[in-house]
Amino acid sequence: MVTARPAVQGLPAYKPGRNPADLAREIGVDRAVKLASNEVAFPPLPAVVQALTAAAGETNRYPDNGAVVLTRALADRYGVDPGQVATGCGAVTICQQLAQAFNDPGSSIAFAWRSFEMYPLLAQVAGARAVQVPLVPGRPGSASPDTHDLEALAAAIDDTTRLVFVCNPNNPTGTAVRRAELERFLDAVPASTLVVLDEAYREFVTDPDVPDGIELMRGRPNVAVLRTFSKAWGLAGLRVGYLVAEDPAVAEAVRKTLVPFSVSSLAQAAAVAALASEEEVRARCAAVVAERDRLTTALRERGLDVADSQANFVWLPVGEQAAELASALEARAVITRPFAGEGVRVTVGSPEEDDVFLAALDDLGVAALRPVMPAV
Ligand SMILES: Cc1ncc(COP(=O)(O)O)c(C=O)c1O
Repeated sequence: MVTARPAVQGLPAYKPGRNPADLAREIGVDRAVKLASNEVAFPPLPAVVQALTAAAGETNRYPDNGAVVLTRALADRYGVDPGQVATGCGAVTICQQLAQAFNDPGSSIAFAWRSFEMYPLLAQVAGARAVQVPLVPGRPGSASPDTHDLEALAAAIDDTTRLVFVCNPNNPTGTAVRRAELERFLDAVPASTLVVLDEAYREFVTDPDVPDGIELMRGRPNVAVLRTFSKAWGLAGLRVGYLVAEDPAVAEAVRKTLVPFSVSSLAQAAAVAALASEEEVRARCAAVVAERDRLTTALRERGLDVADSQANFVWLPVGEQAAELASALEARAVITRPFAGEGVRVTVGSPEEDDVFLAALDDLGVAALRPVMPAV
């Protein structure tokens, strides 16, 4: 009998998110709303559809393995050298490549917890130790796990720590660390540890005190920034993300671990077209932010304790009621993302989708949630 490595056997089985069409059929409604994966609700940008149509005629050829045009466009956009950029099949694959490139078995990867759910899994596959540093409660009177404890994260780094992820804003809490504390943290990290600022949600940040990682990285060779086209840029279905590193050797190591041709020609063409439509993307992000504010206010008006989010989702810290709340919402045609025992993450959808969510909350009686969610 063949057996997978114990590290792989120990991974949780992949649990696909509910498909809205299936759910709608199951509960006998016209339409279910998916607020579970932090996608944007807008259709693909017109320029992206055009680029995809043109690129479709070339799919008998392999993609450009070096993603030269996209890499150049990203380098121009961020004022860096193309050698500082690595593209990948979604930011999540770049996370995996980073562990492959920097972590020998027995080394460690440090990150806050709760944070992006892939960090512990990719550490496990790499045979690295996952060092998880609890989030600190953010607001007085709130029981919600809130933001990074960067002092504790710095203290958790030892000789074995090759990689640190700082997810900013943090998935799933939506909270962000500010410039001064992040600078202090970067100053404290040893030069032999790579800090990856995971900025998958950067485009939704409105707090001017939350630094742009690419600016912050300058002059710090052990810092790199991870971004994606899946969220603000609306290309989740195409799988393309990128890393910008201060030290070109970091980007090179990531490029070396790329599964050949894994950034498809369609993904590359779409990403280039999306970058050229940045003004439209910015307008869409502004609409998401306005809707985020409306949703946050509506939740607070219902007595729920919702922290300010800097991303395109909000976090309901309902603790033990998370699974129950998510399934009650699902029965009302709304798919959210529960984290058992901790909370429920709800993507900011279109105003219509969010109204369906708010109506579902009203229908199930939010008062039931109040014991664990103190009124603001
Ligand atoms: C914090 C964070 N990083 C990275 C990713 C990966 O994004 P993608 O692989 O779609 O580029 C996600 C996706 O949800 C995320 O939330």
